[in-house]
Amino acid sequence: MKIRREEPRDWRAAEELTREAFWNVYRPGCQEHYVLHCYRSNPEFIPELDFVMEEDDGRLAGHVMFSKAELTLADGSSFPMWTFGPICIRPDLKRQGLGLRLLRHALDAAREVGVKALCMEGNIDFYRHAGFGLASQLNIHYHAEPPESEVPYFLAQELVPGYLDGIEGTYAPPRGYFVAEDDPEGFAAFDATFPQKTMTLQEGQLPQFCRRCGKPLRSNDDCGIGPDDKPCFAFCRACLAESAG
Ligand SMILES: CC(C)(COP(=O)(O)OP(=O)(O)OC[C@H]1O[C@@H](n2cnc3c(N)ncnc32)[C@H](O)[C@@H]1OP(=O)(O)O)[C@@H](O)C(=O)NCCC(=O)NCCS
Repeated sequence: MKIRREEPRDWRAAEELTREAFWNVYRPGCQEHYVLHCYRSNPEFIPELDFVMEEDDGRLAGHVMFSKAELTLADGSSFPMWTFGPICIRPDLKRQGLGLRLLRHALDAAREVGVKALCMEGNIDFYRHAGFGLASQLNIHYHAEPPESEVPYFLAQELVPGYLDGIEGTYAPPRGYFVAEDDPEGFAAFDATFPQKTMTLQEGQLPQFCRRCGKPLRSNDDCGIGPDDKPCFAFCRACLAESAG
């Protein structure tokens, strides 16, 4: 298993891998493959930190990419920050230490190209093995939560010790991570070029709520059925029926 820079010939395979790895993990379906697809032409993308993990037979086993980002300080100025993701390991190869190996390799490379600190959203149970802790401990706030809260999924790490000394700021993921929300038609057209997969709302995903009444949606059964006979993950049954009627 080797780790090397991603090349154009890997692009589609890395997007397929990303889609397989993220499918139904955080939400019904996933958007991360479109984020990756669009990010490669984003000026914030860091090509030196775009890695694939490859098996001896040439199949991709993992992928990770990094982006420039920023903190907003109290006086409104910005302070350089970096982030990474999507990161993934092929589902059949999970929990064999490969994710950590890929991440550690990427972090060493990040240090070498001058990345000084990283912020990201993720599961501390995985990322703490690569040196991440709660961002609140470094005085970095998450844009979507009150500044005084300790956000358990918002993580950070200094790659250059002391880089954040005396700094208190707020992080929001760069706009490039919201490309599927910003361009839903582009995302739908892109996703349609991949094999069909079933979208499921299930336990363990990020909380989903009906966009009309706010009721929590916990399974496909809580959702309304759309005109295409598939679950409509945006609305509960009652609200969808009411809007149709
Ligand atoms: C997250 C991901 C990259 C981890 O890669 P991996 O190769 O499966 O993880 P590793 O084997 O290197 O894990 C190392 C340790 O991290 C922890 N860990 C890894 N995945 C975890 C999980 N889902 N929940 C809790 N702890 C986890 C464990 O302590 C693990 O050691 P163990 O298996 O001996 O208990 C991979 O599971 C993946 O692609 N997931 C889907 C996409 C995703 O969620 N990406 C991250 C978005 S923030």
